[in-house]
Amino acid sequence: MKNFLISAISALTIGAAGLVAAPALASEGGHVENIDFSFEGPFGTYDQQQLRRGFQVYREVCSSCHGLKFVAYRSLADGDGLGMDPAWVRAYAAEHDVIDKETGEDRPAKETDHFATVTGEGMGPDLSLMAKARAGFHGPYGLGINQFFKGMGGPEYIYSILTGYDGEEKEEAGSYFYGNHTFAGGWIAMPPPLSDELIEYEDGTPATVHQMAEDVSAYLMWTAEPKLQPRKRWGFVAVLLLVVLSSLLYLTNKKLWAPHKGKHVNL
Ligand code: HEC
Repeated sequence: MKNFLISAISALTIGAAGLVAAPALASEGGHVENIDFSFEGPFGTYDQQQLRRGFQVYREVCSSCHGLKFVAYRSLADGDGLGMDPAWVRAYAAEHDVIDKETGEDRPAKETDHFATVTGEGMGPDLSLMAKARAGFHGPYGLGINQFFKGMGGPEYIYSILTGYDGEEKEEAGSYFYGNHTFAGGWIAMPPPLSDELIEYEDGTPATVHQMAEDVSAYLMWTAEPKLQPRKRWGFVAVLLLVVLSSLLYLTNKKLWAPHKGKHVNL
């Protein structure tokens, strides 16, 4: 017991020291803002208008350098997500060319195809799963403490990358790097992709850098976890069922043991 107490206390102390030391790491990258996204918490759900705006940002800005190879066009029509009109989705897919797996030739994409993969000089990594891949690696020592206590995850990281440029620029061996206080090391090869009024939102929302960064981060959370809402719903049903089942077991147990318990004198 004593040993356990000692290790528990030292673990707590080390954890607390980590929390206090965290701001010192900020200049080397790693700074992540906290945003209250609608999908956080046990009952959080996606904000459909926000997902649609984020998709517009992806379409008009990010898609020139980033693919979404794990996302099928038809999932844009899912009611739990963007809920786009299936006819629109079909037309949108057809604007893109894919290589047919059977014939090996180019053809217009169908809604069952996936978004294009984007590769080449100056292109960025695929973003389909980025919101998951970067979910817990920031915060003190990458322990996921921020995620646990503040619900901060991958979307916050993406938002912070997009808004974290400090205006510095440098050239190294023929490549350009841009100062960014979120990206590890403080320098990123992605030129600042957003500027105020860069796009005109279809729903009339003013397109500030912050608004676009928040919307596209929400959209990328959806690409990484399109089934978030059904998962939470079923989780809730499962918990309810467990509660009912446990109460029944408790009552059955009481009833079964009733003849044997309580007969003798309590000491
Ligand atoms: C001009 C091309 C270009 C555009 C446009 C662009 N990116 Fe990038 N992006 C890059 C490159 C290149 C990298 C790799 C940076 C590096 O490794 O230093 C990158 C990296 C990233 C990363 C990964 C950071 C990490 O931790 O690895 C994210 C997230 C990202 N971009 C999001 C976006 C979003 C969202 C948009 C649209 C608003 C966007 N990018 C627009 C080129 C671009």
